Amino acid sequence: MLCISSPALRCPSFGKTKTQHHHILPRAIVTGLQVTTNHHHAIIHSMPSEKVEIIKSLEPWVAQSILPFLKPTDESWQPSDFLPNSSQPFDQFITEVQTLRDWSAMLPDDYLVVLIGNMITEEALPSYETQLNTYDGIRDETGADTSPWATWTRAWTAEENRHGDLLRTYLYLSGRVDMLMIERTIQNLIASGMDPEAENNPYLGFVYTSFQESATFVSHGNTARIAKEKGDLVLARICGIIASDEKRHEKAYIKIVEKLLEVDTTTAMLAIADMMRKRITMPAYLMNDGHDASLFSHYSAVSHRLGVYTAGDYANILEFLVQRWRLEKLEALTSEGRRAQEYVCGLAPRIRKLQERSHERAQKMKQHGVKFSWIFNKKVML
Ligand SMILES: [Fe+2]
Ligand SMILES: [Fe+2]
Repeated sequence: MLCISSPALRCPSFGKTKTQHHHILPRAIVTGLQVTTNHHHAIIHSMPSEKVEIIKSLEPWVAQSILPFLKPTDESWQPSDFLPNSSQPFDQFITEVQTLRDWSAMLPDDYLVVLIGNMITEEALPSYETQLNTYDGIRDETGADTSPWATWTRAWTAEENRHGDLLRTYLYLSGRVDMLMIERTIQNLIASGMDPEAENNPYLGFVYTSFQESATFVSHGNTARIAKEKGDLVLARICGIIASDEKRHEKAYIKIVEKLLEVDTTTAMLAIADMMRKRITMPAYLMNDGHDASLFSHYSAVSHRLGVYTAGDYANILEFLVQRWRLEKLEALTSEGRRAQEYVCGLAPRIRKLQERSHERAQKMKQHGVKFSWIFNKKVML
């Protein structure tokens, strides 16, 4: 379900401009970076100018209803709250590090692979802030723009920034992972960027972010649960606190789409259908460690097997959003809008069926292991 390649796009509703995507960076040519590119034709600026006005007109509403989802810095947790304090006397610091390492020693390799993949995903935050700033009508025009949309994007980024920091420092102190290979993966991933095919269109973009925050909530929530089962209570707290941020962010993005459904019902409904047809790809789908050409799908397969993030979760999130946005009850749709509604509302059961079939196929295939550079080339079953 976490599909990397994108289907050819059709453009139902937005009067889209089709542009040739630049295939100028085949792997490792320009700078020696392992840059991975998309191979689809990107559509850009698909939102007509009158819709930009709708988005801009929501600014007072964003200030009143969305910015309160942010937490003031003084009331926010920080990575140092969960990590050994390096400013205390050396012996005490070492004792705390030792405890962290004793606990992390109980984590199996396959779990570590998933935790590392999640951490790398968080560390590619620059790409996500860039992504938000591609959306017409909300972008931060100066870098310190005081518009409510831009204020949200920067403060959201600032909150998210703690996630990668915390997971990264934990994994570094655990002594169980190959930091060099992880860091190379992060460098390549940020250099590669991401393209969820949101077309500079906030209608599409906020559907993506709603789904994505939900997915990360599920994923960090499950790594917290498993850490607890394995006896690593420090890590359970770490993943749990990150998951709670994701939930808060999810609520904000869901509310934005809810508002779009209220003020521009058909366009918002079409946007949801459009994103679901493209399938929501995970933001780190271009990850690359310079060794394993299928690194992302291997990491996703392990995550699926451990029940951290599965195809079933994808269907669950979709169902949750359909319910949360009351899509089945939407009225005042054009006929095109009604078709989109029908498609989206009937999609989760279809995904589940496909998933069952592919699960059966996978069961028949012989299980095999893959080496992950992140854990010193140890083999992990997919
Ligand atoms: Fe995050
Ligand atoms: Fe997030």
